[in-house]
Amino acid sequence: MMMNLMIIWILLLSGLSSCSGTASDVLCLQSLKQSLGDPNGALYSWEFSNDTEGYICQFAGVECWRPSESRVLTLNLGNMGLEGSFPQGVQNCSSMVALDLSSNSLSGPLPGDIAGQLPFITSLNLSHNSFSGEIPSGVGNMTYLSKLSLEHNRFTGRLPETMGDRLARLTLLNVADNSLSGPIPGSLQRFAAENFAGNDGLCGAPLGKCKRRFHVRIRARPVRIHLRLRRVNDASSIGGAVGFVVGFVVAFYFPRCFVFCGSLRPYVFPVCA
Ligand SMILES: *[C@@H]1O[C@H](CO)[C@@H](O)[C@H](O)[C@H]1NC(C)=O
Ligand SMILES: *[C@@H]1O[C@H](CO)[C@@H](O)[C@H](O)[C@H]1NC(C)=O
Repeated sequence: MMMNLMIIWILLLSGLSSCSGTASDVLCLQSLKQSLGDPNGALYSWEFSNDTEGYICQFAGVECWRPSESRVLTLNLGNMGLEGSFPQGVQNCSSMVALDLSSNSLSGPLPGDIAGQLPFITSLNLSHNSFSGEIPSGVGNMTYLSKLSLEHNRFTGRLPETMGDRLARLTLLNVADNSLSGPIPGSLQRFAAENFAGNDGLCGAPLGKCKRRFHVRIRARPVRIHLRLRRVNDASSIGGAVGFVVGFVVAFYFPRCFVFCGSLRPYVFPVCA
């Protein structure tokens, strides 16, 4: 964490001028307040009438790099009853390192370019919401990420391979209680089973073996047997019917061939004699 923060400090000092940073951070919070439903009035302190530098640092849930500078370090908006979709406005809080939106009523998919929106994020907590869709593979580009909590949402599909390949700093990962499926990428298998629990389709270490092939075979076999039996039945009944008709016709036209008792021969008359 210290190392991450130091690297980010250096990046920020070299890359961003503080002026443009703070103006856009105010825009970021304005956009968030606008886009999020707030039935409990949890963001009532977010009043944008005061334009003193650093005033946004006193808003509920906002922590700044320095109290006298309107530059957001972390947003802690957990358990506020917030509604709506993932707030795209966060991309203008361009120096933010931690975002907590946990235990709200947020829904819908995560943006595909989430890494571009939160380039310096080290901690992302979206747990206990109703986010859905696939976890975007772009998550793998959030290279400073050390804590990722996505548990108790409605995510579907596979865990992206990029998460396993590129998130080398990850020390906490929780995707429990979603609807994820498929194998757990190799380098994520170092996390304990409870972080993956509650997903019916996830498999591979640290959970049970992937049983995909076995399932397919079990399912296919009865179907195949069923078809074969049906074919056999069809063939034999058609064969039987054809045999009957042929036998009947032959006996009709050549009755003498079928009457083996000599004394009966005089009583046998060919139909078309
Ligand atoms: C604006 O914010 C500053 C810093 O938080 C505070 O000292 C000042 O009283 C505020 N001004 C108004 C008009 O609310
Ligand atoms: C970010 O800020 C720019 C102005 O700097 C603005 O035009 C844009 O709409 C903002 N983006 C979002 C998603 O709010």
